[in-house]
Amino acid sequence: MPSAAVDYARQNYPRFLSELKTFLRIPSVSTLPEHKSDVAAAAAWLAEEMKRIGLEHVEVIRTEGHPLVYGDWLHATSKPTALCYGHYDVQPPDPLDEWKSPPFEPTERNGNLYARGAVDDKGQMYIHIKALESLFKAHSGKLPINVRVILEGEEEVGGEQIARFVREHPERLKADFALVSDTELFAPELPTLCVGLRGMIYTEIEARGAMVDLHSGMYGGAAPNPFIALAQIITQLKDSSGRILIPGFYDDVEAPSADELKAWKQLPFDEEHYRKTEVGSPVLTGEPGYSVLERTWARPTLDVHGMPGGFIGAGAKTVIPAKAVAKVSMRLVPNMMPEKTFAQYKSYVQSLTPAGITLDVRLIHSGEAIVIGTDNPYIEAATRALRQVWNKDTVFIRGGGSIPIVGDFERHLKIPSVMMGFGLPDDNLHAPNEKFHLANFYRGIESVIAFFEELGR
Ligand code: BES
Ligand code: MN
Ligand code: MN
Repeated sequence: MPSAAVDYARQNYPRFLSELKTFLRIPSVSTLPEHKSDVAAAAAWLAEEMKRIGLEHVEVIRTEGHPLVYGDWLHATSKPTALCYGHYDVQPPDPLDEWKSPPFEPTERNGNLYARGAVDDKGQMYIHIKALESLFKAHSGKLPINVRVILEGEEEVGGEQIARFVREHPERLKADFALVSDTELFAPELPTLCVGLRGMIYTEIEARGAMVDLHSGMYGGAAPNPFIALAQIITQLKDSSGRILIPGFYDDVEAPSADELKAWKQLPFDEEHYRKTEVGSPVLTGEPGYSVLERTWARPTLDVHGMPGGFIGAGAKTVIPAKAVAKVSMRLVPNMMPEKTFAQYKSYVQSLTPAGITLDVRLIHSGEAIVIGTDNPYIEAATRALRQVWNKDTVFIRGGGSIPIVGDFERHLKIPSVMMGFGLPDDNLHAPNEKFHLANFYRGIESVIAFFEELGR
């Protein structure tokens, strides 16, 4: 029998959905300075909403970057305390012409809600808010457990401000565990807890050649070209089999346990389906000897994201640019230290500097990988709750992405995270036509309600 809170949620799904749409219309793109006021507007909107549902001490916490939003309800004596985390910032929406409906005009099609941030992470963090609202309403203004909510507006750019807040004010976030809904179900209808994330270092290599841009007819053949220089460097970072060539890069890599590897083999993974429908390329690339799940969850990797500089307009311009940049990131796995990896990378890149070029190798942001133990009462209660809602055993997976603050929760707050995500592998995170499968929005709300009721028993 559904609890009173689940009943309340079900009766209010149409309103929950229209509120989520309002939230998604705010273009809170954290990386673009022109959207700073939109990020602030999203924070203010959330704070109002948190007050309205019954959270106390609601505060928009100003920082040197984008604001944090905090609220709590701490009157469930002798019950555990949850720290609900989410991020209300989103990735830039480009390329715009690839969207079937505008990124900031949420649109329903085939049971999905399409918008930038629909699943990453506005829709998922809103699950927490709506679960809390339903619990408050069904229990005359009370919650079954204690709850603190902390929301950040710059996860997509490294999460520096929340990391600082956790370091400087751990007492304000004192809790027994964190609940994070910012990951995926392994497959539709399959309740999933994510127990590991990769870390990352995000870098830029700036190459400078001539003093100024030069006519390539007059100077080509005599002047250094920073794009050619970057291309030469990049091809020496990774070989054609996907192995990274930075000396010492793999020294500290910790392999997953035999139990984990065995469990991954049991997961319903169809490599051909993944290649065709998710990646859409003729072949998959990567290190030989490792499965796709190992390659994306438990092996470090390196990618190039963009190379700003020179002429990128339509048509042709014959110029040798004075400078060019390559944005390069590496995903790290447990036991790799971001500072150490960056130092190895930087000195290797510098050793590859072509004649006539000067390089600046800089770190934009970084975060450690994390693996979470599954033998704690919060993970156990979560699997019981998920069974009630989904009628299935929970699978434990890792994610290849990064949520930098999860490592800090473990290190500074000394609490485990329950990463209960409701996205789908084909939700187009960071890509055009990002979506949230609405059934998962609703089941997510019911899962969080069931989880908190389970912990309050
Ligand atoms: N929610 C994602 C991370 C994620 C996605 C984890 C799918 C597991 C499965 C998060 O918002 C994200 O995109 N993080 C960035 C972090 C970075 C900018 C520091 C990432 O992974 O690129
Ligand atoms: Mn996210
Ligand atoms: Mn993201």
